[in-house]
Amino acid sequence: MKVDVVLGLQWGDEGKGKIVDVLAQNYPVIARFQGGPNAGHTLQFEGKKFVLHTIPSGVFRKNAQNIIGNGVVIDPIIFMNECIKLEEIGTPVRERIFISKKAHLILPTHRIIDAASEQAKGSSKIGSTLKGIGPTYMDKTGRNGLRVGDILAPDFSHRYKNLKNKHVLFLKQFNFEYNANENEELWFKAIEYLKSFNLIDGEYSINKYLQESKKVLAEGAQGSLLDIDYGSYPFVTSSTTICAGACIGLGVAPSSIGKVSGIFKAYCTRVGSGPFPTELNDESGELLRKMGNEVGATTGRPRRTGWLDMVALKYAVMINGVDNLIMMKADVLDSFETIKVAVQYKIDGELTDKVPFDPYSNIEPVYKEFKGWKRDLSKITLEENLPFEFMTYVRFIEKETGVPVSIISLGPDREQTIIR
Ligand code: GDP
Ligand code: IMO
Ligand code: MG
Repeated sequence: MKVDVVLGLQWGDEGKGKIVDVLAQNYPVIARFQGGPNAGHTLQFEGKKFVLHTIPSGVFRKNAQNIIGNGVVIDPIIFMNECIKLEEIGTPVRERIFISKKAHLILPTHRIIDAASEQAKGSSKIGSTLKGIGPTYMDKTGRNGLRVGDILAPDFSHRYKNLKNKHVLFLKQFNFEYNANENEELWFKAIEYLKSFNLIDGEYSINKYLQESKKVLAEGAQGSLLDIDYGSYPFVTSSTTICAGACIGLGVAPSSIGKVSGIFKAYCTRVGSGPFPTELNDESGELLRKMGNEVGATTGRPRRTGWLDMVALKYAVMINGVDNLIMMKADVLDSFETIKVAVQYKIDGELTDKVPFDPYSNIEPVYKEFKGWKRDLSKITLEENLPFEFMTYVRFIEKETGVPVSIISLGPDREQTIIR
């Protein structure tokens, strides 16, 4: 068996949580491979809504094992709070959630460093979620980090103190007020809570599942345009969000990767700073935000909105080797007379269909216009009932990317999903 991957093709918030929850019924194993509580994955079913940050989106499916892979960074406090909420509604978290010992820990001081470095950047700040993601991955690659497996070591609190002291020294360069002891007690309480879970050698577990012919679904966080290498650097997150990250973040060989499903919204959104060529700072952008309820699931910040960007979408399809597309939130476009898609960029008078190196490039999108369908899509459950204008839009995307759209999502609920 192989690891199938579901990942975002834009700047995150494409609807990964909803789709992983839908697909999880067919997978005995769901695994998060990167990111951390910067993610906010929303699921909706039976009139209830849940937002998951660290926990894989298969947690509501009976018999599914949910693995937090080694590529993830975990804030024990956020993890504990998430689990407590799930326990309150009767989800057997210890039966369903397994944590790789090699996943790294976010310390309270990582969050302080995140805030201090964002403040120091001033107007060029990244717009981080301030969950300590960047500083934790810095300690990982700098070989200073603490991992989940370390919590079982007798000298864990000593190692914690050493790292905290390093952070306090590092923080001296910033003109930033903080309390290094804030949340420390709660953090250690959460570490004890973490010990009550199955801490696993994730790479052995996943490869064993594959040998036993169990299908694994890898759930991406963030999106391809936020990837540390291929995103709009420096306005990116600090992990490998693209498909290759599933190999690193789970410990599986490239030859073990199966289907790669790329999720995109029928338009674009972005939270935080950085380039957004098709951004709409007008009434249409406001309408997208309102109809799409585009508010950050983790930070509550309003999301920036704009038209679909085919140049960026094709780029993301290429670097991920996407073999099927999942189209989300077209229902948000229901009331638009005209729908636009950027098909090329004009940079300094030159046309290009490539994403430029420089995030500060002066990009002018070249648009193709489509007639809107002006109908409520949210109640349509059969493909043959989808309006002609909508299908024209879908076929255009398939033709441009060379990849079929296998799933169409027309509302936040599990049921509002057409599998083609
Ligand atoms: P994720 O981070 O990729 O899991 O996405 P988020 O949960 O951050 O954001 C997606 C938002 O869109 C959530 O509020 C979902 O409930 C909602 N959503 C998902 N699919 C659809 C859809 O097809 N139509 C509409 N209108 N909303 C959707
Ligand atoms: P999901 O998984 C949207 C953005 C932040 C910021 C940049 C860096 O829900 O799609 P970080 O906290 O990682 O240092 O922030 O990345 N960002 C996201 N945007 N969805 C996410 O996750 C995001 N995770 C991080 O807004 O611009
Ligand atoms: Mg999200």
